[in-house]
Amino acid sequence: MRFDTPAATNPIDQGKVIGKPIPRIDGPLKTTGKAIYAYEWHDPNTRYAYGYIVGSAIAKGRIRSMDVAAARTAPGVIAVVTSDGVGELKKGKYNTAKLFGGTEIQHYHQAIAVVVAETFEEARAAAALVKVDYAEEKGAFDLTAAKDSAIEPEGGGDSGAGDFDAAFEAAPVKLDQVYTTPDQSHAMMEPHASIAAWNGDDLTVWTSSQMIDWWRTDLATTLGIDKDKVHLMSPFIGGGFGVKLFLRADAVLAALAAREAKRPVKVALPRPFLMNNTTHRPATIQRIRIGAGRDGKITAIAHESWSGDLPGGGPEVAVQQTRLLYAGANRMTAMRLATLDLPEGNAMRAPGEAPGMMALEIAIDEMAERLGLDPVEFRIINDTQVDPENPERPFSHRNLVGCLRTGAERFGWQERSKQPGARREGNWLIGMGVAAAFRNNLVLNSGARVRLDREGVVTVETDMTDIGTGSYTIIAQTAAEMLGVPIEKVAVSLGDSRFPVSSGSGGQFGGNCSTAGVYAACAKLREAVAQKLGFNRTDDLVFADGEVRSGDRRMPLAQAAGDEGLVAEDLIEFGDLTKTHQQSTFGAHFVEVAVDVATGETRIRRMLAVCAAGRILNPITARSQVIGAMTMGVGGALTEELVVDKKRGFFVNHDLAAYEVPVHADIPHQEVVFLDETDPMSSPMKAKGIAELGICGVAAAVANAIYNATGIRVREYPITLDKLIEELPEIS
Ligand code: MOS
Repeated sequence: MRFDTPAATNPIDQGKVIGKPIPRIDGPLKTTGKAIYAYEWHDPNTRYAYGYIVGSAIAKGRIRSMDVAAARTAPGVIAVVTSDGVGELKKGKYNTAKLFGGTEIQHYHQAIAVVVAETFEEARAAAALVKVDYAEEKGAFDLTAAKDSAIEPEGGGDSGAGDFDAAFEAAPVKLDQVYTTPDQSHAMMEPHASIAAWNGDDLTVWTSSQMIDWWRTDLATTLGIDKDKVHLMSPFIGGGFGVKLFLRADAVLAALAAREAKRPVKVALPRPFLMNNTTHRPATIQRIRIGAGRDGKITAIAHESWSGDLPGGGPEVAVQQTRLLYAGANRMTAMRLATLDLPEGNAMRAPGEAPGMMALEIAIDEMAERLGLDPVEFRIINDTQVDPENPERPFSHRNLVGCLRTGAERFGWQERSKQPGARREGNWLIGMGVAAAFRNNLVLNSGARVRLDREGVVTVETDMTDIGTGSYTIIAQTAAEMLGVPIEKVAVSLGDSRFPVSSGSGGQFGGNCSTAGVYAACAKLREAVAQKLGFNRTDDLVFADGEVRSGDRRMPLAQAAGDEGLVAEDLIEFGDLTKTHQQSTFGAHFVEVAVDVATGETRIRRMLAVCAAGRILNPITARSQVIGAMTMGVGGALTEELVVDKKRGFFVNHDLAAYEVPVHADIPHQEVVFLDETDPMSSPMKAKGIAELGICGVAAAVANAIYNATGIRVREYPITLDKLIEELPEIS
């Protein structure tokens, strides 16, 4: 099914199942421990071997020699696989650095060997016996130092309209500030893990992947085998946030180890290893300039961002939202990319907007203050309904203003003290902050297969993944709505490369796109059902209560299945609507903080997010995404930072003891409000992404609340107490 005209009224609009707060259908499997994650696949008749990866102990240089003799003869060892023993490995399309390093080392903890043994412990013990002689080279590890050598990335990085320089020069009120965001780690719950098994030339890998087809393609490319020979399974995933978008070392090394050991091999990336072995969100330096008239209208806005990556990598697109979020005739954005020899930088939840909004939304707060305007009002004054760089291109649907107004009302924004540092309760300084939320809505083609059996059970199969987001549930809801059956009559199978290729989970596109693919397959099944049951007209067909109705005629749906069952497969293919109309999602974050006047400790007191993101397919799973994102935003504001060893080139705090993410005690009352809307440009589902919108702006709202509480403006994330304590008032 091609989707190139706005969606008309369709069965999804009935809203009998779609849009209902249905608890996730895979919930009982997860809460009872029956959902099987990658490392847990277990066939009692198989003797699994265990692989333990050896990672490079230098960030840049060469391996002179590797001595694996002691490892090979260690207890339980079956094989030691090094890259010179496996022939040439190609690099997949989506990876920057090689997943199995050769003589040349590209980053710290790049995989250089895998030791295979009878038990995990024996493999780990033997891995410690591998001796490597390195020729270390000097690398570039410091973004600030590399900033001046940064260049425009391949594919360009600049955009603009009007004459920024002249307009900024002439503006009566202006701001010119620099903000920094650190390297961040995805810190999902389930570490990467794979089990590989060969059967002749056929390879099966149970793994933890957001994008089945990307992994399958890249694994085949890396190993130099035919894609048809690779079978990937990833039905349950304990989080990803982007670090499982692209094939990783565990899958490649498990496959190579299994080939060598002639047995199925399990390989997991231990947490202290994966933070340097895999990807992270790159640090940024961002300069923002804004000029406005005394009426509060922005006349000039510029956003420049510097980030770094390995050779061949890309920039963090931190200027993305600034091209679209606020009006202003004169504007420019620019990105510059420095070469750094740190581990690979890549997508992490809302790549681009998440760190971009951390900077932009402080700048907007600062500008509002200079103009003497309420920060909510300043944002509303500068709303735009068209792409400000290309004014002939409207937004498909945009209600940022509604989010800000609803949020201000619900949060009690009028209680906020206009004067920073003016509200105090005992030792606590109290403040409120606001930020807009913005994240683009992406669309990727997505396929599915649906089967009706004679019991009236509908089975959906697609290689879509559920990374904790609720895919199983919204897909079941879609099929139930389309075919007029209760959700209990729908079975959903995901995460298997034998199923039709879906959008996968990433970039907050998975919810809208994968359900649209299921919609397309169900539409096809409805036609087949109508034909089977002998309905001549299809324009008035209603599928409801397990029946198919047209005029006075009604037939049981199950009857169409016959003995064989009835199957339909289709793909949603997105046309040019994203080109003619800008598709984005909007929100507003409100935060109240308390800062200890003596210690500088910040406690979050209340949080509210108001989101406008098209149809909400399931308010329970959507809310769960947003509160998770808000929590992650608090981490970004207050604690999360991969600390770079600038001499040796690695992330020092590479575990969850030292890379601090918020825990329950850090998170107070969170509220999420969804504005009631649909976006017919996005898909037949009229839904958009929500999972990444929720993080965008949160950290800035916290920063702005801290400023309101203390009068201290911190522009370098995370806002740890050392950045506040000097300027806090004397304790009285
Ligand atoms: Mo997301 S960063 O595309 O998983």
